[in-house]
Amino acid sequence: MSTRPIRFWHRGQLTEVHGAAPTRSVLDWLREDAHCSGTKEGCNEGDCGACTVVLGRLDGQGALQLRPVNACIQFLPTLDGQALFTVEDLACEDGAPHPVQQAVVEHHGSQCGFCTPGFVMSLWAQYQQHAAAGTRPTRQALADALSGNLCRCTGYRPILDAGEHMLDAPARRLDAEPVRAALQALAEEPPLHHRSSGGEFHAPRTLDELAATLAARPQAQLLAGSTDIGLWVNKQLRVLPEIVYLGAVPELQRITASEGVLHIGAGASLEAAWQALAMHWPAVQDLWLRFASPLVRSTGTLGGNVANGSPIGDAAPVLMALNATLLLRRAAHSRRLPLHSFYLGYMKNALQPGEFLQAIEVPLPQADQVLRAYKISKRFDCDISAVCAGLALQFDGECIGQARLAFGGMAATVQRAARAEAALQGQPWTEATLQAAQAALAQDFAPLNDLRASAAYRLQVAQNLLRRFWLETRLHDPLPAQALNVWPLRLQPAEAVR
Ligand code: FAD
Ligand code: FES
Ligand code: FES
Repeated sequence: MSTRPIRFWHRGQLTEVHGAAPTRSVLDWLREDAHCSGTKEGCNEGDCGACTVVLGRLDGQGALQLRPVNACIQFLPTLDGQALFTVEDLACEDGAPHPVQQAVVEHHGSQCGFCTPGFVMSLWAQYQQHAAAGTRPTRQALADALSGNLCRCTGYRPILDAGEHMLDAPARRLDAEPVRAALQALAEEPPLHHRSSGGEFHAPRTLDELAATLAARPQAQLLAGSTDIGLWVNKQLRVLPEIVYLGAVPELQRITASEGVLHIGAGASLEAAWQALAMHWPAVQDLWLRFASPLVRSTGTLGGNVANGSPIGDAAPVLMALNATLLLRRAAHSRRLPLHSFYLGYMKNALQPGEFLQAIEVPLPQADQVLRAYKISKRFDCDISAVCAGLALQFDGECIGQARLAFGGMAATVQRAARAEAALQGQPWTEATLQAAQAALAQDFAPLNDLRASAAYRLQVAQNLLRRFWLETRLHDPLPAQALNVWPLRLQPAEAVR
């Protein structure tokens, strides 16, 4: 297995990096080695967006796909084969500011300026998308696109004004051709095996290579989008001397629907995975928008959320309610496991050494099935849930044939409420049945007290969410889904520009 330098496109040319530690962040490399200090460090944990940069890669049709990401929690070797754009790349040849920058200036979208390069890069990604499509982002779509960028000075209105007017000036689109040609050439390179004094980084390119690499190195840390792992390094100062990266395996990013099953590759980005789920179950749209931020969702993966197994992970409650099955792979062997049997205890799961999650398989919607997903957190955007619920019923005439009620934030793992489900099954969906299920919830869970919520609050909220579910899905006189939304309706689905 010969090692080679990390190769990517940056500042208009092919860039090679030798001897990088596997967890060297893109942000640190930019500021300390490449001397591109326009990209700022704020929180160093994916929360503030000050470090926003844009990555480019070729999609399945060879087109250049741009994604805004947090440079602080992206590891440098994951840039291999990609293009990296930073705020230094925006000025025109004659030094004039890019239309995005000009709009931010004209609309007073910057005061202390610390957040500004991050906002400008998130807006630049939107600019390129809309300039190519000849469309304009709505104000709400801009607000969603910027939900991963925090500003403590401007109050955001001038930044949104700038976003609404950045396409007024003559278009200044990125010349994608030289970048595409460079990435096509990089795609011919052998898979990256990178060694340094700081450790080893392996990026196999196929499912079989990944399986073989993990089987040979069961002790290595499997890396997907690093939106959890990045914080282990930055905040817990963990040292990861050997990394196997699944982000270079296209098969893991595929999402297909066939034979009644939605098959989501474990390496599919959260954005792509939630978009696919929302196409079949519009009721998850709200949770999709509120899951982290676009910057985190563009690199974080659904497989990572499931495998990480946080007791407050937001994907597992919905996937459990939808009766999802996990396709696991170890060397040449595959097996399937229902998601509700995957978690064994706090942050413990059923994966064997060298085994990885290949896909999440979700039965497609059936007639007489209802689903709701509710996320309760202090902040609307980019906040960790206090309670998250995935609730599904399959009706059998006027009665409930099958109930699947899954909650995050209520126990050491995301788990189903078995007693509350039993109180529903075979019963008519009436208020009396609801009350029996609400009472049974208190038997299912002994929630935690922590800084996000008290045990009593969590149980009360879980019971209230069950009531909301009943009000929205009872067979007679159901309330419209958004009627009980405590937050203003954010996006008409047609507006959801993704
Ligand atoms: P990584 O960080 O790469 O890996 C996480 C863990 O999963 C590691 O142990 C890794 O080995 C394992 N793993 C990854 N893929 C596989 C696989 N295919 N097979 C086996 N093991 C695997 N989470 C929420 O649920 N809701 C939120 O609202 C939310 N908000 C966030 C906001 C911020 C600012 C940040 C930084 C994170 C947030 N997260 C949230 C957590 C995180 O983004 C998600 O858990 C994400 O899905 C993790 O995916 P990843 O690909 O980045 O995983
Ligand atoms: Fe805050 Fe990266 S520095 S998100
Ligand atoms: Fe100061 Fe945004 S202008 S943080």
